[in-house]
Amino acid sequence: MLRILANDGMDASAVKHLSDCGHEVVTTFYELDVLKEKINEFDALIVRSATKVRKELIDVMAGGRCKLVIRAGVGIDNIDHVYAEEKGIAVRNTPNSSSASVAELTIGHMFAISRFIGISNYTMRNGEWNKKAYSGVELGEKTLGLIGFGRIAREVAKRAKALGMDVIYTDHLGKLEGFDEFKFVEMDELLSESDYISLHIPFIKEMGPTLGEEQFAAMKDGVRIVNAARGGVVCEKALLKALNSGKVAGAALDVFEQEPTLNEELINHPNVSATPHIGASTAEAQKRIGVETYRTVLSFFEE
Ligand code: MLT
Repeated sequence: MLRILANDGMDASAVKHLSDCGHEVVTTFYELDVLKEKINEFDALIVRSATKVRKELIDVMAGGRCKLVIRAGVGIDNIDHVYAEEKGIAVRNTPNSSSASVAELTIGHMFAISRFIGISNYTMRNGEWNKKAYSGVELGEKTLGLIGFGRIAREVAKRAKALGMDVIYTDHLGKLEGFDEFKFVEMDELLSESDYISLHIPFIKEMGPTLGEEQFAAMKDGVRIVNAARGGVVCEKALLKALNSGKVAGAALDVFEQEPTLNEELINHPNVSATPHIGASTAEAQKRIGVETYRTVLSFFEE
């Protein structure tokens, strides 16, 4: 019998499946101090984004019972994964489960910043009828530039194409086989040609933001930006400046440099559509993440 700690919770059907297989799943949330005391009572630790698995915790785990950390999600930036692997603790994620949900939110945000959906909803609730102020633009026939062309970006690309958009992409791997309906371009061309730019890349601290002042300057006037990837890949200071100058006509943000964000000037900007990191927060994605997670646990310990 395995003892598994899902410190940030887990979809009930996945908990049931593991229990039915004879394993014990604890879904209590432990703060770091308690977690450090308890962690070696478990074989595997499952986290979402709330629990940070940093060196301090990994040092306690090293050589102990807990041999596997699973990030129930895509980004593993809340886990010091290189250090963990060095200490003999395997780190896995669930890269296959949330792409459709994140892609749908991305498209939803593109509509929101094109048609003032959030702000007009908000002002109507305050008794205003600002019909003239909310004249927007269509997505059809616009160019969408995708930075990063992994699983999520490809789902965005399919949906955007169905909406009549031209989709171009750039990726650190270069042109990718099997996606000829979408045009690979270098970053410079993507910045200068896109009406919408959506990022689908991890944040690598040492590299800093992918979009900063220099990149905004290279974009079309009136470009719209979507970031449902990771805070930090867009420099918030530079984005705010570009919004205020009108260079950027709209920005949709699901992720922030700091979460929860304290950047009120940015989220209160009339041309910003903001959500609190809910890309994978759908019933369907969480169910799939649960399945991918329990399969990963079971196959890891079968090996
Ligand atoms: C992920 O990395 O899976 C997403 O950002 C969703 C999340 O962190 O909840």
